[in-house]
Amino acid sequence: MVKLTGLKKVKTAVFISGTGSNLKNLIKFSKIKNSPISIDLIFSNTAKAKGLRFSNQFNVKKYVSSFKDSKIAETKILNLLKKENIKFICLAGFMKILSKNFIKKFNGEIVNIHPSLLPKYKGLNTHIKAIQNKDKVAGCTVHFVTAKLDSGKIILQKVVKISKKDTLTTLAKKVLRQELKLYPAAIKKIFS
Ligand code: GAR
Repeated sequence: MVKLTGLKKVKTAVFISGTGSNLKNLIKFSKIKNSPISIDLIFSNTAKAKGLRFSNQFNVKKYVSSFKDSKIAETKILNLLKKENIKFICLAGFMKILSKNFIKKFNGEIVNIHPSLLPKYKGLNTHIKAIQNKDKVAGCTVHFVTAKLDSGKIILQKVVKISKKDTLTTLAKKVLRQELKLYPAAIKKIFS
C-alpha cells in the first residue's frame, strides 16, 4: 500500500476517456492543503476526451495514446508513470480495461469509480439496467482495481434513491453528483 511520507503528497495520475467531471473535481480536491494526493498527469485513450481541456486549465501534464494496440499503449504509459514517479492512479470514466500485466507492473495502487452499487451491475449501462429492473436505489462505488473487472475491494459506496420520474439522464446526473463527493472521501479514507 502507498503511504504518505511526511508532508509530501502522493503523485497521482487520472485516467479518463470522456467529459472529466470527476477529473476536474479531483484536481480541485488535490489542491486543498490536507489532500493526500497531487495530480501530476492526465491520461486519455482518446484525443476526443473533453476532460483533456483541464490539462491546460490547471497546468497538469497530459498524455494521449490510443488503445488500438493496448499492449504497446500500456508499455508506453508504464514508462511514463515511472518517469514521473506516479504512485497512485485514479480511473475516472476510463472506458478501457487495464491488463493483468499493467496492474502487476505498476508500482502503486489503482482505484476506480463505478456508477453502480457494486457488486451489482459491473461493466457498462449501469443506469439503464437499474431503471429497467425497477430498482428503488442506485449509487456509486470507489474500489481498488484488480485484474477482474469492477471486482476489487470496495473502499466507499453511496446510495442514491431512484424516483418513478427518473430517466437515464436524471439518474446519471444524480449519481454523478454523489460521485463528486465520494471520490475525494474514498481517497482520504485510503490514506488516513
Ligand atoms: C462517471 O459516471 C463514472 O462513474 C463512469 O463514467 C462517468 C464519467 O464521467 N465510469 C464508468 O462507467 C467506468 N466503467 P466524467 O468523465 O464526467 O467523470
